[in-house]
This record gives sequence, C-alpha cells and structure tokens, in this order.
Amino acid sequence: MSQSTDMPTPAAIARAAERLRSGLLVAFPTETVYGLGADARNPEAVRRIFEAKGRPADHPVIVHLSDAMQLEDWARTVPEGAAKLAAAFWPGPLTLILPRAPRASDAVTGGEDTVGLRVPAHPVARALLAAFARRGRHGVAAPSANRYGHVSPTTAQHVADDLGDRVAMILDGGPCEVGIESTIVAFDDDRPLLMRPGGIGVDALARVLGRAPETPGDGAPRASGTHASHYAPRAAAFLVDAILLSAEIERLAERDEVVGVLARTVRRPPELDGHWIDAPADVEGYARDLYANLRRLDAVHPDAILVESPPDDPAWLAVRDRLERATHR
Ligand code: TXA
Ligand code: MG
Repeated sequence: MSQSTDMPTPAAIARAAERLRSGLLVAFPTETVYGLGADARNPEAVRRIFEAKGRPADHPVIVHLSDAMQLEDWARTVPEGAAKLAAAFWPGPLTLILPRAPRASDAVTGGEDTVGLRVPAHPVARALLAAFARRGRHGVAAPSANRYGHVSPTTAQHVADDLGDRVAMILDGGPCEVGIESTIVAFDDDRPLLMRPGGIGVDALARVLGRAPETPGDGAPRASGTHASHYAPRAAAFLVDAILLSAEIERLAERDEVVGVLARTVRRPPELDGHWIDAPADVEGYARDLYANLRRLDAVHPDAILVESPPDDPAWLAVRDRLERATHR
C-alpha cells in the first residue's frame, strides 16, 4: 500500500506538527536518513512507531530536539564532553546518550536509565521540530523510517515503499545529504564511548574531546542498529575484495545466478549480464548514495548482491560498519 508524500510547504509543516500533537506518526527528512516521528512525551504515540516498524518494543528511540537548549529538559546531567560535542556538532549528525530526566519515559528509553538526544540539521526537520515546539511540547521520538532490520530510507519514496499507509504523513525533503545515520556517543562517567560510527567521523570527535572515544567491548549495552544483521537488503549480500570481484561474478554467472553489483573502483565487465552500479569513489558520496544503491539493486530481485569492499581506512569506518551488517548472514 502506498502513501503519497507532501512537499514541505509551511502549511504542510504546520499540519505535520498538528498530527504529531494528536499522537499520529509523521515521517520527515533529516540530513542522515528519514525519521519516523512521534510526540516523545506521548507513550501511546511512541508505541505506534514500534508497531509501524515491526520493531521490538524494548528498543530505545532517539529524541529529536529543535534546539540544544532543550537538552537540559531531557537529560539529568550533561558530562563536559557531551556539552563540548553538542556545541561543536549540533545541529548535525550526532546523537548523545545521556542520563535521562523524568520526562523521558520508558517508551522512549526502552527502560534504560539513559536517553538518546539529537538536534538534526536538515531545514525541514528543524522547521517541523520548531513548529512542534511552539506549543511548549518539544521532543520528537524518531527511529529511521524503515521496517525493522531493513535498509534505512534516504528519500521520501523509500519511506512510502517501506511503511506505506502506516504513517499519517510523509514530508518530502529530497534525498538525504549524509545518507548514513548519526554517530552515537555515550558516556561512562566522563569516558566517551562510540556506540555507533556515523555521520561525524571519529577524528572530528577526538579533536573536540581531546581524546578518542572508546569502542565498547562485549557486555556493553546493545543498540538495535548495532545488531550483527541490520540495514539489510532482501537479497543475500556479500562483501568481496576488488581483486576477487570479477572471478566471483563469473562463478555466479556459471550457475545462472542473477547478480547485482555495487562497485567502486572495479569497472563493469563488458559481458556481464546483471545489474551494476558504480558508486562514488569518495567516502561522502559513497555514504550519501549507499542505501539508495542497495535498494536499487534489491529491486531487481537478484540472487545475490556483491559489494566491492570499501577501503580499510578510518575515514570509511561508518560505511564499513553498515556494509558488514548489510552483508551479515
Ligand atoms: O541518524 C539517525 O540517528 C536517525 C535519524 C532519524 O535521526 N535515527 C536513527 O534511529 O538511526 P534508529 O532508532 O534507527 O537508531 C538509533 C539507535 C538505535 O540503535 C538505538 O538502540 C540507539 O540509537 N539508542 C537510542 N537511545 C538509546 C539509549 N538510551 N541507549 C542506548 N542506545 C540508544
Ligand atoms: Mg534504524
């Protein structure tokens, strides 16, 4: 079933804010991916998010704020490092996990003692959050607007394809510029922990924090996007080193399998009978197009999707993380 999308005119944004206030779900663009929003202070509305996504109800969702000033309403304490990161990167693709204030309900935190907070940079997200906050009820809970475990949406059409009429409204803000989700940083007392690599690189975090965030080991709290399999296309997907790609394509072709290939440096073999996408070679372009590319390949129902392995370089950490989960069997 499909749902039409709305251009983000001031009237549409006002209508969207009104729907959020009445407990309905509104999908909206952010600079990272599209979010599926609900009034964060209405537990019933937040529960509708989980229903629409088919997501387990005990997973926490990020609360989106229009302004960093609202941080103190949602977080009980703000470690110095968190304040520095907020000042440096908000509005932007950064989520802070902080000790929750009473207004952060269990529906939003999944029962954790922490809450995830982010001030997004996309002008439509900002306009919606500001319109929503105008009556004093700020805070929009929003996970990525996809079915649970699936590839995140980076266009309004992706949201319509995944969630159809499970949402009251989809605001169309065009394709997302960052293309992968926000970087998530938590704090253990004052020690910064990288919970999910994302739109803000680790180098940039380290410059502001004066130290590199640690990567939590086993036994650390798990976040839904950190499950081994996530961000996954429907077809079986595999990471393949550039030098092995042609041989692997040939091997599958001999078995009459239809392949979809997401290449980056390897050129398409002239005899290939399949679907081939040349992804941008630079990391920003690659990340921006990644989910749309995976969805395009998936749409031809291939027997397998082969993804050329990205460079083993810190700048590619977040992309590599998504690809490893997308190809996890
Ligand atoms: O870029 C993004 O972050 C997008 C846009 C819409 O803002 N949102 C997004 O939300 O990716 P979601 O729900 O798909 O992923 C958020 C991640 C999940 O892995 C969730 O478990 C984790 O953040 N998270 C949220 N609150 C948390 C908390 N209190 N403690 C630990 N993890 C938390
Ligand atoms: Mg998600």
